[in-house]
Amino acid sequence: MAGAMHDDVEEILFTPEQIQARVAELGQQIAADYAGREPHLVTIVKGSIPFIADLMRAMDITLSLDLIGVASYGAGTTSSGEVRLTKDLDDSIEGRHVLVVEDIIDTGLTLAYVLRNLRQRAPASVRVVTFLDKPSGRGTAIEADYVGFTIPDAFVIGYGLDWNQRYRNLPYVGILKRDVYAGPL
Ligand code: IMP
Repeated sequence: MAGAMHDDVEEILFTPEQIQARVAELGQQIAADYAGREPHLVTIVKGSIPFIADLMRAMDITLSLDLIGVASYGAGTTSSGEVRLTKDLDDSIEGRHVLVVEDIIDTGLTLAYVLRNLRQRAPASVRVVTFLDKPSGRGTAIEADYVGFTIPDAFVIGYGLDWNQRYRNLPYVGILKRDVYAGPL
């Protein structure tokens, strides 16, 4: 059924071209800030996969990459607040300059959990880059050091972001139609 996935999109927020331009800019800025230090990119899967793939290629410096998996309990479109580790890092981060790569910060609970966890492992420094920031949802005083785009209070999909594991492969970021997750009004 061609087009079915796109039919669930209410509105496109960022086109592939806009995403590429912004991610390239971010990568260059971060690379400049880390000049002389080798960042270790700790990527939160799965939502950050397209973002890290583009971001790291826009960073023309020596870096390394690892993946961490977290899940918040419960389904739906809001975070339950209870987070657990689903995949741990492969390598030690002790003494390293860690850059956490996140897809979206909403309540901030996922990021708060990850930062708490990573700081116990004695990294030299920890910074955060998020592709999207939804400040309206914030329950904790937590901010990213680098933000791709700030978005309004809407549930978005695409460029890695899912709803029930779907839509991650959309090349743009769009708002999911409400009736897809809430049923007809
Ligand atoms: P937080 O813990 O509320 O900050 O939520 C962070 C996680 O919830 C993200 O890593 C996403 O997996 C998911 N999330 C939050 N908002 C959205 C959204 O609008 N679309 C898709 N996933 C979202």
